[in-house]
Amino acid sequence: MPYAHITGWGMAAPEGVMTNDDLAKIVDTNDQWIRERTGISERRIAGATEFTSTLAVEASIKALKVANVRPTDIDLIICSTSTPEYMFPATACLIQDQLGATKAGAFDLLAACTGFIYALNMGAQAIRSGSIKTALIIGSETLSRFVNWKDRNTCILFGDGAGAFVLQASERPGGVLSAVMHSDGSGGDLLTLPAGGSRFPATESTVHEGLHCIKMDGKEVFRFATRVMASATLEALDAAGLKVEDIKWIVPHQANIRIIEAAARGLKLPMERFVVNLDRYGNTSTASIPIAMVEAIEKGQIKEGEKLVMVGFGAGLTWGALAAEWTGPLPSKGHVRPEQYRRLGRVRSLVRRAIRFIEGLLYRREL
Ligand code: ACO
Repeated sequence: MPYAHITGWGMAAPEGVMTNDDLAKIVDTNDQWIRERTGISERRIAGATEFTSTLAVEASIKALKVANVRPTDIDLIICSTSTPEYMFPATACLIQDQLGATKAGAFDLLAACTGFIYALNMGAQAIRSGSIKTALIIGSETLSRFVNWKDRNTCILFGDGAGAFVLQASERPGGVLSAVMHSDGSGGDLLTLPAGGSRFPATESTVHEGLHCIKMDGKEVFRFATRVMASATLEALDAAGLKVEDIKWIVPHQANIRIIEAAARGLKLPMERFVVNLDRYGNTSTASIPIAMVEAIEKGQIKEGEKLVMVGFGAGLTWGALAAEWTGPLPSKGHVRPEQYRRLGRVRSLVRRAIRFIEGLLYRREL
């Protein structure tokens, strides 16, 4: 049975920075409260030409470069997101087209902030089963588009960004070692984006009542999160036959420093073993774990051969954890330039649209 190795990684964050002081000009809050209660100092906010797919493509190209993998070699693209560009088509298909990943299947996965763990596990299982060899797993969000900028309970928390991993099959042991996924829909109302789906389609009143923005019972989500972070980590370790002492790093979902501190207490581990960067990005939902991972790898914090656990929680309610051994890129030949495939992909996409248009005209004439 092949192993699923994480062989490439990349992240993207919008240029636009919003500090706590910037927020204090919009809502009744202040830098001290936000830093003390959440640990967040600033977050990135997508500009007018930045979208869930464009951030994802930027992160993916970096990940493909690290892995030295061509977009045309990708078998499967999973985009984990709670902020897709459309109800359909899937954002993963927009990414497939922009990357020029011509043979890839592509779909979106929605498990809120736990989404990246779910997606990584799905990609790894597809590789382990032998049905695919290469997967691109993405977590990408533009939460700022769904935040109520008048609600100080939520608007201070969220930010935009994307992270991507390349997963590849190898006979060498390592890579994704185990994963656990959980859900409890009885808590679905604690964190929700009520309207815009099939239950409450957009109407004048849904817009008027602000139902297209994130609603959250912060205290209840906080309580739930502090309960599940340590237990999910221990479950994933148990499934991999590992103990807490065997792992070097915990990479938690970056929601609130107090939640991470509670997890550290639950696991009896010092905070130095946790990868934390929420001070600069806020809560980027499903993108938060890969962004934290990429920064830690690029800083040389996470090294080849080290074992780690990624752990998250989010709306649904969902939670989960994944244990992995960090092995780095597989040996490969040549020097792949994924940006060239992106340029070619753009031309290919235009040509396909033109052919479809001409075929449509001919077909109509035949009727
Ligand atoms: N600025 C200043 N004061 C504030 C702010 C603010 N931004 N927000 C709330 N307050 C006030 C409240 O009004 C309250 O005042 P009061 O005592 O006079 O009523 C006081 O500060 C305390 O408010 P709490 O809600 O009790 O603050 P708490 O310490 O619980 O922190 C927070 C709130 C940060 C939202 C916290 O509950 C939290 O982090 N919850 C988890 C949220 C989370 O992780 N969500 C993401 C899940 S992942 C996903 O799926 C997207």
